[in-house]
Amino acid sequence: MSQEHPGPEGPGEILRLTMAFYGSRALISAVELDLFSALARGPMTSAQVCAAVGVHPRGATDFLDALVSLGLLDREGDRYHNSPAADRYLDRRKPGYVGGYAHLADAMLFPVWANLTEALRTGKAQVPSEGGFFDGYGDDQATRSFLGAMDAVNGGVAHRLATGFDWRRYSSFVDLGGARGNLAATLIRHHPDLEAICFDLPQLEPFFTEHQAALGAAPSPRFVAGDFFTDPLPPADVFIVGHVLHYFDLQQRQRLLARILEAVRPGGAVLVYDRMIDDERRVRTLSLLGSLNMLLTSPGGREYTPSECRTWLLEAGFTRIAVQDVGPPDTLVLGYKK
Ligand SMILES: C[S@@+](CC[C@H](N)C(=O)[O-])C[C@H]1O[C@@H](n2cnc3c(N)ncnc32)[C@H](O)[C@@H]1O
Repeated sequence: MSQEHPGPEGPGEILRLTMAFYGSRALISAVELDLFSALARGPMTSAQVCAAVGVHPRGATDFLDALVSLGLLDREGDRYHNSPAADRYLDRRKPGYVGGYAHLADAMLFPVWANLTEALRTGKAQVPSEGGFFDGYGDDQATRSFLGAMDAVNGGVAHRLATGFDWRRYSSFVDLGGARGNLAATLIRHHPDLEAICFDLPQLEPFFTEHQAALGAAPSPRFVAGDFFTDPLPPADVFIVGHVLHYFDLQQRQRLLARILEAVRPGGAVLVYDRMIDDERRVRTLSLLGSLNMLLTSPGGREYTPSECRTWLLEAGFTRIAVQDVGPPDTLVLGYKK
């Protein structure tokens, strides 16, 4: 199979790839400055932007015009406004906000990616805590930033799961490693008769309570605190496991899937979603690079292909495995319990 991208043909494209992080960093800084929320209130000149978000005039016009060229802003005369996509997804006040991932990139991923060579040499994660990322829940601000990043991605998956899976046959689900219950809340907004549990580490319970209050949604999922490797899992018809398996090594994934099989009621299902790599391991650049992100941030994780996931589900005892696209960038693998 050929690659989706033919690859660079000359030095210009190689240099463009070398400097691709310039654009990424410009977007991240714009989110950090909350520029898009400011411009959502109305168009501004460069000087007005400087005053509104606290930018020095020296770089301001180049910064704004670079964002125009990236398709994130537009300019009419000397006034800048958000592009339609930036207005919908990067204005902090709108429900579709995905800027949470940029905050995480700013606080954690950018510094960590600077150590990629070291991680490749040693095979070791480059986050400060030895236990990996989830040991870092001590700092509330960092935790909120992480949870906002998760919600930026799981919001889209939640809508696709709500409409693309036949929930009529089921009455309950557990979102395992469900963070602050963003996906669970979306699912029961669409299917209010479902009994919903968000299962996560006890440190996340206050953030769950805070987020559910902010969503103001009724009904709300219930939070069950625990460690999914050691504590009893609440029984349910469906278990959702999203952006969880990729963090752990193979043995841990197998152990978790075996525990889920026990907890799923007969006739029930497991739904695994992750930023999976294509089976040929050629095309999904973001997933392949995402796997390096797991090298950098977890003790034993990596991204995986739908075929690998199918094998683990069959080995655990699930049947009728199916694969669905719920991205970009996520893929869903479903299995059923007899
Ligand atoms: C990357 S987040 C994914 C959150 C959410 N499922 C999503 O798709 O956005 C992984 C979640 O697993 C939780 N988690 C990690 N280890 C856990 C454990 N041993 N027991 C319970 N939850 C755990 C983390 O606290 C975090 O909320």
